[in-house]
Amino acid sequence: MFSRCLSYLFVVGILRCSESLNSVNSECGENITLPCDATRRSKQYRSVTWYKVSGTRTGIIRKAQDRVQHFKAARMAEFGHDESLLVPGVRPEDSGDYECFLSANVGGENKESKLHLSVSECVTPADTTLADTTPVDTTPAALVTLTGMMSCFTAPCMDQVVEVSLVLVVSSFSVIAFVKVILSIFSVWVLLLIRRRGERQRMDDWS
Ligand SMILES: *[C@@H]1O[C@H](CO)[C@@H](O)[C@H](O)[C@H]1NC(C)=O
Repeated sequence: MFSRCLSYLFVVGILRCSESLNSVNSECGENITLPCDATRRSKQYRSVTWYKVSGTRTGIIRKAQDRVQHFKAARMAEFGHDESLLVPGVRPEDSGDYECFLSANVGGENKESKLHLSVSECVTPADTTLADTTPVDTTPAALVTLTGMMSCFTAPCMDQVVEVSLVLVVSSFSVIAFVKVILSIFSVWVLLLIRRRGERQRMDDWS
């Protein structure tokens, strides 16, 4: 029984670790909606609070008993459908991690979900005319998205522009995918081994 619990924890641990932070990519100036995934795991809660997380948590907006409070000095935002966060006119400085926190009723369990927002650089009219005269697109959309994804893993050096060739990025993602597959196979193997041992033990008990 104990070993079965242990193997369960082991597998769950691997699944948890392979879960990457949800990522939202946006253009400068867009009105965006950040979903609160925690509401899928809890329907009964006392209050819901959105935070921006960068080392410490900074409150943005909170709702309790249908009363909405805006935190002082927080960025302007509103609640949307299913406790999502509506952020109008996003700027590059809005990039970062966001947390939706559901405070439980008495006896319940708090729930939270996090996601990462990347907002692209703002293009000023001057830049646009420059872009019109230079036909070469220096920032391929794929590279921007991938650096956004990578910043999930390298949060502290997010401001650095990482110049990574597409081949390198693709190959490193393939390696990660391969390692995940190997780990999954290994965990299933461990589970089977433990289960078989359990069955053998039960047979020994009977004989
Ligand atoms: C954002 O929303 C405001 C009103 O809430 C609207 O006037 C504006 O056009 C929207 N901007 C975009 C880019 O959709």
